Amino acid sequence: MPNQLDKEKDREKITHQHRKDEHLSLAQKFWRNQNFENSTGFGDIRLIPKSLPEISMTEIDISANVFGYKFKKPFYIEAITGGSERGDRINAQLAEIAKNQRLAMAVGSQSIALKYPELAVGFAKVRQIHKDGFLFANIGASHGLEGAKRAVDMIEANALEIHVNVIQELAMKDGEGDRSFYWLENINEIASQLDVPVIVKEVGFGMSQQTFQLLGETAVSAINVGGRGGTNFAWIEEQRAKEFSLYLDAQGLSAPESLLEAKFASISKPLIATGGIQYASQIVKSQVLGASLVSSAGFILSNLVENGAEYVEMILENWASDMTKFYAMLGVKDSSALQKTELIYSGDLFTFIEQRTKPSRF
Ligand SMILES: Cc1cc2nc3c(=O)[nH]c(=O)nc-3n(C[C@H](O)[C@H](O)[C@H](O)COP(=O)(O)O)c2cc1C
Repeated sequence: MPNQLDKEKDREKITHQHRKDEHLSLAQKFWRNQNFENSTGFGDIRLIPKSLPEISMTEIDISANVFGYKFKKPFYIEAITGGSERGDRINAQLAEIAKNQRLAMAVGSQSIALKYPELAVGFAKVRQIHKDGFLFANIGASHGLEGAKRAVDMIEANALEIHVNVIQELAMKDGEGDRSFYWLENINEIASQLDVPVIVKEVGFGMSQQTFQLLGETAVSAINVGGRGGTNFAWIEEQRAKEFSLYLDAQGLSAPESLLEAKFASISKPLIATGGIQYASQIVKSQVLGASLVSSAGFILSNLVENGAEYVEMILENWASDMTKFYAMLGVKDSSALQKTELIYSGDLFTFIEQRTKPSRF
C-alpha cells in the first residue's frame, strides 16, 4: 500500500512531468507564431563576399575541434526537455537524427531524473541509440558535484551543460521558480572537479560582459551564450503562470550581441552560440563573431513535430552543404580563417556596438 509520503511524491512527479509537457506544447506554439528574422539580431549583420575567392569547394572543411574532440559539423541539437513520456519520445527521435547525421546532442535537464531515479531510463535511451556520439548531460546550476556526476554517468556523457536561467525562474509563479541565485561557486566547484568538460549555458536570454568576466575566472571549459530571439522561456512561463504584465519576455541579449560582449570582455574560452538558429547563414555569422560551435533547439523541435524526422534530417544536411557554400563565398577553407572575416553591422546591432564600446557617453 503506498503511504501518504509516496502519494505526495507521485503527485509532485506528475506535476513536474506535466510542466515538461507544457514546455513542449508552448514552445511549439511559440515557434508557430513568430517571425524570427529580426529578433535574433543576425539580420543586422552582412557578410562581405569575395568575387575572386581563389578557392575550390573540395578544399573546404567545416569541422571544428573543441574539447579535444573533432566535431564533423560545427552545429548540434541543443537540450530539449526529457523525463516525461512525451519528452523521452522526442529525445529518442532526436538521438536517432543525431546518429544518422553524425551530430552531437544535448539532453534536456536531468534534474527530474536526479529526483526520481526511475526516470533515468528515458535519458539513458539517448546513449543507447547514439552509441558513439558526443553527448552533453544537462543540469541546473543549483545542483552539487554529486548530482553532476550522476547526470554524466546516466548517459555516459562526454561533457556537462549547466544551464543558467534566472529570467525563466523569475517568470515562474512564486513557489515554483527559484528566488535565490548564488550559483557561481557551485559552478566552479563542479567544473574544477568533474572529469568531463563543463559548459555554462544560458537558455535564451544572452550574456553580458560582466557574466563573461565572472565565468572567465572559473574552471568551466566553454560558454554557451544562449541568446534571445529564438525560444523565449519567459514568454512560455508567463503563459503557464498567466502573468502577462512582467515583460520579462522582452529582456535579454541576442546571440550576436552576446558574442560581441564576449569579445569586449576579451574572453578566451570557447564559445557556443544558440538563440533562434534556423539557417546556415546564422551559423556562419556566429562563427565569424567567435563561436566555435552553434546549437539549435526550438526550430528543430518545431520541425520534428510539424514535419517529421526525415524533414529535420534534410534541414541538417542542408545546413552543412550551405555552410560550405558560404565558406566558398568568403574564400575561407576552415573556421579558423573565418574569424578574420570582416562584417557590416546595421540597425540595432550597430547602435548596440556604439553604446557598449563607449559606455562613458552616458
Ligand atoms: C521544449 C524545450 C525544452 C527545453 N528544455 C531545456 C532543458 O531542459 N535544459 C536546458 O538547458 N535547455 C532547455 N531548453 C533550451 C534550449 O536548449 C535552448 O537553450 C533555447 O531553446 C534557445 O535555443 P533556440 O532558440 O534554438 O530554441 C529547452 C528548449 C525547448 C524548446
